[in-house]
Amino acid sequence: MITFDGVTKRYPDGTVAVDGLDLEIPVGRITVLVGPSGCGKTTTLRMINRMVEPTAGTVTVDGRDVRGVDPPTLRRGIGYVIQQAGLFPHRTVVDNIATVPYLLGWDKKKARARAYELMERVGLDPALARRYPAQLSGGQQQRVGVARALAADPPILLMDEPFSAVDPIVRAGLQEEFLRLQRELEKTIVFVTHDIDEAVKLGHRIAVFRVGGVLAQYATPDELLDRPADDFVADFLGGERGIRRLRFFKELDEEEAAGGGTAGGRTGSGGTAAGGDDRTAAAGR
Ligand SMILES: Nc1ncnc2c1ncn2[C@@H]1O[C@H](COP(=O)(O)OP(=O)(O)OP(=O)(O)O)[C@@H](O)[C@H]1O
Ligand SMILES: [Mg+2]
Repeated sequence: MITFDGVTKRYPDGTVAVDGLDLEIPVGRITVLVGPSGCGKTTTLRMINRMVEPTAGTVTVDGRDVRGVDPPTLRRGIGYVIQQAGLFPHRTVVDNIATVPYLLGWDKKKARARAYELMERVGLDPALARRYPAQLSGGQQQRVGVARALAADPPILLMDEPFSAVDPIVRAGLQEEFLRLQRELEKTIVFVTHDIDEAVKLGHRIAVFRVGGVLAQYATPDELLDRPADDFVADFLGGERGIRRLRFFKELDEEEAAGGGTAGGRTGSGGTAAGGDDRTAAAGR
């Protein structure tokens, strides 16, 4: 579990990015941080792996105050995926994915074998292994980013708007594959987005922030739908259209809970669609 206990971040210029945050992030689940631009989502995420240090309060991972763990050790257990993947442009796909295993001193053969295994896991054709990032579609780059973050099998993944740079169809495919992958891997995932539809589709729990870094509500998608804490949250959910979409996803979840067959069908078609979209995207370049 990851906990925030009275955490505030004030940057040196006086900006309060996160204000008195209390949050418990469960193990093995997807927790989404959502809210408008500048509300402190990225800052919150980066306080988990000590890329940003809090001004006040305590962040713990599995009961340990992160201040007591040196950053390289901490980050070995925490994968990090960012928008536009952040790949190394002069390294091939396979070497990008093997970055952390190389740093950990794995021998080259073992690190590459792991990279190929992960390419398969995230739905990348092994024929792409020797390409450079610029030779991939946006959706393929994001998959490489996810594979790289998973390479050393960290129990925790931090994902900062990982799918927001790709077009809506590719994005929907990536979301489906991500859900399928998470069903297999059961990582503890903290996922940042400013898109409420994405939050509802992916999140087991959703933390809604308002500007000023104040947590407006922390709830399951169902609870958010049924009982938005205030007008800000209700507006953010987007009125009737948003609510209908929420109901739609809620029903899908109930179907999944009721029987594996439906869930499998949904996942299967999502995966196929994503593969097709990516090929289209690549061919269009
Ligand atoms: N290094 C910094 N120095 C000063 N202020 C910063 C710094 N980094 C972020 N901020 C400010 O802190 C606030 C929160 O920023 P943060 O990047 O956490 O927001 P965000 O919710 O991730 O936004 P977005 O959706 O645009 O990515 C913003 O007002 C931002 O300008
Ligand atoms: Mg951000």
